[in-house]
Order: sequence, then C-alpha cells, then structure tokens
Amino acid sequence: MLEFDFFLDVGEIQRRLISDSGERKLTEHEYPRRPTTRWLFALLVAAAFGAHEAVAEETQLRVAFGSEVRSFDAATLLERADARSITVQNDVAYHREMTFRAVPLLALLDGLPLDRADTLEARATDGFVTHLPMALILRAKNGGSVPWVAIDESGSPWPPLPGKSDSAGPFYVVWIDPERSNVSQEQWPYALVALTEVEAPVRRWPQIAVDPGLASEAPARRGQEVYIVQCLPCHRMRGGGEGDMGPDLALPRSPTEYMTTTGLIAQIRDPKSLRNWPDQKMPGFSESALATADLDALIAYLRHMAHRRDTQAVTAH
Ligand code: HEC
Repeated sequence: MLEFDFFLDVGEIQRRLISDSGERKLTEHEYPRRPTTRWLFALLVAAAFGAHEAVAEETQLRVAFGSEVRSFDAATLLERADARSITVQNDVAYHREMTFRAVPLLALLDGLPLDRADTLEARATDGFVTHLPMALILRAKNGGSVPWVAIDESGSPWPPLPGKSDSAGPFYVVWIDPERSNVSQEQWPYALVALTEVEAPVRRWPQIAVDPGLASEAPARRGQEVYIVQCLPCHRMRGGGEGDMGPDLALPRSPTEYMTTTGLIAQIRDPKSLRNWPDQKMPGFSESALATADLDALIAYLRHMAHRRDTQAVTAH
C-alpha cells in the first residue's frame, strides 16, 4: 500500500516537472536528440545531394539571458574578427591534441549582465545538459582557464568522436589551460546547441539537495557538489535535472541498493570493466578526473539520497 502511494507520488512529481517547464518542451522539439531518424534522414538527404553544408548551416547556437535571446550560425561566427585557430592539448572529446576555429565564449555574452548571473546551462543535442558556474567562466578575466566556443566548419568538418559516428559539432565549449580553474571533463559540452542563463541547480531543483539537517562536514554534502558537476549532466536526481542520457540515480531505485560498492566504483571509474556493449555512453572517471576522496563523497551522497527518497519524495512538489 505504502509502496503504491510512493510510486503514484513520484509520477505526480515528474508530471509536474514536465508541465511546469514549457521551455524544456520547446527546446526538445527544436533540437531533436541524436541519433534520431530525423537526423539520419537529414544526413542521408544531405549526402545524396552532396550538400553537407546544408545541415551545418541550419544549426544555430542559441544564447538566452533573461529576456534577451541571441542566435549565432556557424558561418557568421567563423567570419567574426575575434575568431581564432586554437590548439587544445588534451581534448576531452577527442582524447588527443585538436585544433579548432573558435570564438571566446565571453565575447558571445558581451553586454549582458554577467555579474548578476549565477549559472550558464549548456545543452547538447544528445540529452547532455551541464551547468557552468558563471564564476568559473568569469575567472577567465583574472588568469583562470579561458572558455572558447569551437565551431565545426562545413568546409573541413571535424572527424567522428572516438568510437562514435557523430563529431563534436556543431558547437563545442573547450578550455585553454583547464587546470588553472580545475575545469572538469563534464564542463566541455560538445554537440552544443544552447547556452541559457539559469539559477543554480539546487535552487532549480531543491530535491537534489541533501537533508538540511545533515552535519556541515558530512561527506554527502561534498558529494552533492561532485554530483552536480560530474553526474547531473546525464543523470537526474529524484526527478531534478535536465539530463536525459542516463537513468535517474535515485528513482525508482538507487544504484546503491542494487549494486555492490565494488560494482558502483567500477561503473564510475571504468564502465567497460563492468559491462561492455557498442552503444555504451557513460565515460569513465579516472583518478585525475575524480579524486578518491570525491568518489567516496559521491557514494555517500548517493546512499544518503537513496535513504531520503522515502521521507522526501512524498512531500516534494
Ligand atoms: C555523459 C553522460 C554521463 C555522465 C557524465 C555520467 N553518466 Fe552514468 N551513465 C550514463 C549512461 C548513458 C548510462 C547507461 C549505460 C551507458 O550507456 O553507459 C549510465 C549508467 C550509470 C550507472 C548504472 C545504472 C544502472 O542501473 O545500470 C550508474 C551507477 C551511473 N551511471 C553513475 C554515474 C555517476 C555516479 C556519475 C557521475 C560521476 C555518472 N554516472 C556520470 C551516462 C553518464
């Protein structure tokens, strides 16, 4: 009986989330996820007519800041006076040195009230949605890593990503000297189509936060921060988040309930060591991408949220 109530309630939360977010519906229609038959069809048509450019030219990068919306197409961006060829040593998407034509991300935000903004949401065509803290982006002005928007050129398109059929295009946020600001691998959104000013994730989705009564030094608190940067781009938490690539990591069941700790660590460090199939999408997180202390904190957070599910989901709105 309790179990039944619980599941009904979860459905209600998810329905509300979907109906409250009209904007999300719109963007989902606007930007079909990949691979979809629509994309494949467009590619086939383009290939048949020898017109790859037709696909690239239609793609726009949408930048929305409050009520101000800017749209950039690849050709216009490439012609800008501030476009440069930049070389990225260890490119996150291609796992090798890459040279891109790119424009500074801050230049695309020129004239916008950046100091009042908290977070920039970066949305990709494949269901990946990462949250870039505005403070991280602005650190570029004070010696921090500098973010660039790389643009796939229709004349010399980027190669497919390793093991995949798609490239990192149409747009891709890359960082010069990422170590200067500790930029994580999930903060390099590729297949990018939209950048939107939003509130911080915990304010957008209070259900992803730990119990407020938890001790300030509790590892789960640190784990929440790690989750938001590393996992939320693909995995919702109790319905919170916008990522659509992987499953929610608490509902209907937390992986801490059906995976052993060893299995969970293997899934995070090296998913292919646990299960392996051609269309597997989750990246591994090496020690340099996710320090052991952060991994332990993350697992503490997942356990805490699994337990919270019963007490909180029923009262969440
Ligand atoms: C780029 C997207 C992406 C990121 C980032 C990501 N995952 Fe995943 N994850 C997936 C996908 C997709 C799956 C489903 C299996 C697959 O295709 O790899 C998955 C599967 C899983 C599973 C297995 C669930 C099950 O029931 O089989 C766990 C656990 C998991 N992820 C945890 C995490 C954690 C923790 C993080 C953050 C450190 C994380 N993932 C980051 C995409 C991602």
